[in-house]
Amino acid sequence: MERLDKILSEYSRYSRREASELIRRGRVLADGVPVRDAAAKFDPETVRLTVDGTALVIRKQHTLMLNKPAGYVSATDDPREKTVLELVREEDRYPELFPAGRLDKDTTGLLILTSDGDLCHRIISPKKEIWKTYETDVQGLLTKADADAVRAGIRLQSGEQFLPGELTVLEAGEVSRAELKIREGKFHQVKRMMAALGKPVLHLRRTAVGGLRLDPLLAPGEYRTLTEQDIDRIFLG
Ligand code: URA
Repeated sequence: MERLDKILSEYSRYSRREASELIRRGRVLADGVPVRDAAAKFDPETVRLTVDGTALVIRKQHTLMLNKPAGYVSATDDPREKTVLELVREEDRYPELFPAGRLDKDTTGLLILTSDGDLCHRIISPKKEIWKTYETDVQGLLTKADADAVRAGIRLQSGEQFLPGELTVLEAGEVSRAELKIREGKFHQVKRMMAALGKPVLHLRRTAVGGLRLDPLLAPGEYRTLTEQDIDRIFLG
């Protein structure tokens, strides 16, 4: 037996919070009866749920957090390259599991893989403006002027404009290290931003998506399932 809000969020596209709200508003019927108590327990195998009169198709979604190593492309299959899916054990390769966004082949760090198309959309949609945090080593001395330029929103010579981001210089020298937060996911965005500042990227690692940080216990190439709290955290960042 499991809590109604847990069943609803685990087996549907609703987050735990959205599920609780739907239940509280009496929009969820369990076996034909409105249930307003999110903690009420049911058997997920047998309960028939409707939301606003529509039967819920019970389908467990799977979402993983991968510490992507360099050398893998963010795709489900590729004729030439190794893909991030190859890092997922056969028993965890759920149907429709795909990367929620892309990291370049040489970029490392946090990549979310999900079978939940709705969740994927909420993570990558430009409208949602989910912040992504990167750590980067660049060639050249990063200065406050670079941080100011990122905060103002970098405009490329081509006219392309990036939204304002946040650059925190961690180490300044011939090679500098910085944390960079951006809320878009354009092609090679960090590399193009840093190149525009004249500081080409040497290494790039994603450390967070929204409020969800890469689990420090995951070695490169390792992954784990995301809990509902982890998923909620993405949207709190
Ligand atoms: N920006 C890039 O340039 N590359 C990535 O992989 C991610 C963000």
